[in-house]
Amino acid sequence: MKGYFITLEGPDGCGKTTVANNLDKKLTELGYEVVHTREPGGIDIAEQIRNVILDPKNTAMDPKTEALLYAASRRQHLVERVFPALEQGKIVICERYLDSSLAYQGFGRKLGLDEVLNVNMFATENTYPDLTIYLDIDEEVGLARLADREFKDRLDQESIDFHHLVKQGYKEVLKRFKDRIKIVDASKDRETVANEALDLIIGLINDSK
Ligand code: TMP
Repeated sequence: MKGYFITLEGPDGCGKTTVANNLDKKLTELGYEVVHTREPGGIDIAEQIRNVILDPKNTAMDPKTEALLYAASRRQHLVERVFPALEQGKIVICERYLDSSLAYQGFGRKLGLDEVLNVNMFATENTYPDLTIYLDIDEEVGLARLADREFKDRLDQESIDFHHLVKQGYKEVLKRFKDRIKIVDASKDRETVANEALDLIIGLINDSK
């Protein structure tokens, strides 16, 4: 039996973790087995890679190195966590996946969408999510939500221009993968956002029956 691979995407401060926690709770109450995880990270080796990527001290990191490290952590996380859970028929809710690399490294770092996609196709053996929920928020509103966080990682510290490029990148990604990615307005209240996301997942499950 195969499970469902669902990813949450969006600019920094879009509220992914809150939505993912909410979805985990609601789907579990409905009787589904859920694995809630995140990228970069989710398992020990990938969390170690995350620390290298996001350490504010690593200002010398080259954009291609950054893209490769995200892809490496993605690979390890897929093999150790996502594939086994899907094999067991579980619903995997993953905060961020390859669309983040396309937007942040492809556009934010200007490496190009197709270049970054190619690296990721190698890393994931062409594994796309069954459904991606894009939490749509103005990037400045998202950053303002994070403003009082004490710790700012290396990407949080990027300029507003970088975050505008990332947003532009997501717009291209939405066009390219319009069948897979569904948009939810993340400026609404938490419960509404979570319920809209839940309806999309239930719709996917019903369609696949
Ligand atoms: P998080 O704050 O959502 O946990 O993600 C950490 C940062 O890493 C966030 O600024 C987005 C960025 N990121 C990329 O640049 N490329 C990627 O492939 C992923 C997964 C995250």
